[in-house]
Amino acid sequence: MLLHILNFAFFSLLFVPTNAWWILAHDSLTQDRLDPIVTPGEVAYHVHNVIGSSGFGPTVSTESLQDANCTTAPVQADKSAYWAPQLYHHDHENGTFTLVPIQYVQTYYLQRPQSSADKSQEVKAFPAGLRMLAGALRTSYNASNQEDRAVNFVCLDYDGGSSQSDQLPDKSCPDGLRAQVVFPSCWDSVNLDSEDHKSHMSYPLGTVPDSGDCPDSHPVKVIQLFHEWIFETNKFELEPGVKDFVFATGDETGLTFHADFVSAWDVDVLQAAIDQCTGSLFNGVENCPPFVASIDEEIAKSCKIARRVEEEIDGPLTVLPGCNPVPYTGEATCENLTTPAIKDYTGGDESAQPTDSAVSTVATSASASSATPAASTSSDPPLSVSVSIGVTTSPPVLLASTASPTASETSSWTCSKMQKKRTKKRHHAILQHH
Ligand SMILES: *[C@@H]1O[C@H](CO)[C@@H](O)[C@H](O)[C@H]1NC(C)=O
Ligand SMILES: *[C@@H]1O[C@H](CO)[C@@H](O)[C@H](O)[C@H]1NC(C)=O
Ligand SMILES: *[C@@H]1O[C@H](CO)[C@@H](O)[C@H](O)[C@H]1NC(C)=O
Ligand SMILES: *[C@@H]1O[C@H](CO)[C@@H](O)[C@H](O)[C@H]1NC(C)=O
Repeated sequence: MLLHILNFAFFSLLFVPTNAWWILAHDSLTQDRLDPIVTPGEVAYHVHNVIGSSGFGPTVSTESLQDANCTTAPVQADKSAYWAPQLYHHDHENGTFTLVPIQYVQTYYLQRPQSSADKSQEVKAFPAGLRMLAGALRTSYNASNQEDRAVNFVCLDYDGGSSQSDQLPDKSCPDGLRAQVVFPSCWDSVNLDSEDHKSHMSYPLGTVPDSGDCPDSHPVKVIQLFHEWIFETNKFELEPGVKDFVFATGDETGLTFHADFVSAWDVDVLQAAIDQCTGSLFNGVENCPPFVASIDEEIAKSCKIARRVEEEIDGPLTVLPGCNPVPYTGEATCENLTTPAIKDYTGGDESAQPTDSAVSTVATSASASSATPAASTSSDPPLSVSVSIGVTTSPPVLLASTASPTASETSSWTCSKMQKKRTKKRHHAILQHH
């Protein structure tokens, strides 16, 4: 399993002592031109990389995801599906596109309670079947817009220092590219989805996408989902002076990066974890009692599904799947564009017919407990999957700024803090993080 030596302790203390989080690291489940939220039952506009439940397909329902027999999440109680646009390497010499593999994806579950006295401190599990999008097919960037700020990129360079940007970096990244996205965390308490797949959810009030109180229109604070997709751009030889990478949308800027989520957690397990696991668990999810019964990393690692859309997507390709032009315009440009067929499922997993009738209520169990994991006294966290840095036993450490950093800013900050430590540990082959 991936090991992490993040010194996240400061981050966790910024807000309130119970501001805890855990990370589920996933390998890819499949890459396919499907999007069961935006274009259910059809071939999608662009290729996605998918993680999560093996029940993923052209259509999904809470039941089809939950009834599937595996997920790429180490905690098998999380049968959710997550997907984001695939990245391609664009060889300008011969014009071809080749799929850039992901190394892994980190799904962060961040507890960000509301701060106002008149707001409930409770953080809720996602209601079963909740669907949402984060990010958009944008062509411009507005730094005052939370949704725009929810997406950014980190050029990974463990020796020289990683750097964060709002758009795809214009330089080569020795350790790969991390695409990051913060999901909205305020729910309208009624709708599991909406026509634009967004308006039933909201970012919190304020200017940052990942902390703050929920607006009255979306009063329920759900656990904050934050993704890091690590693309192995460092496996490609780059030509200087050209845009070497392009998303499957045709976009060379990164502005169209987004992510989709369908929750199919065991809601009781997720709520119990929120209530009981208030430390910083990193990948040490075995320190969270509600997760223990369903941790199975072998099943997670071997969980893969076959592609359903009958087309070649790995490359080298002369056009992006769906014939998306570069740069992005939002319209396919091929003459005589044909839509490939979708193969029937043969794996036997999709027995439950997608009906999505499940309208569930939010779990209403008690607020976060005061369980206190052991505090780490070392400034150099142990190299162990059971890393658990306590946040409630240490005195609060506040950064100079009163504004909470976004999760992405914090990751970037943490990464730069880590650089120094990293150098001496690089020989540790198992460390493939940040
Ligand atoms: C074009 O370049 C890619 C690698 O960038 C290579 O795999 C492919 O074979 C090349 N295709 C042609 C037709 O030369
Ligand atoms: C940028 O976003 C802010 C906040 O959503 C909005 O008020 C403003 O009109 C936007 N500016 C432009 C140029 O779209
Ligand atoms: C599209 O179809 C027309 C009519 O069949 C044909 O003449 C033309 O060559 C086709 N174009 C491409 C790019 O295949
Ligand atoms: C999932 O179900 C399929 C079909 O029943 C089976 O072939 C496969 O081995 C199962 N996978 C796991 C991890 O149990």
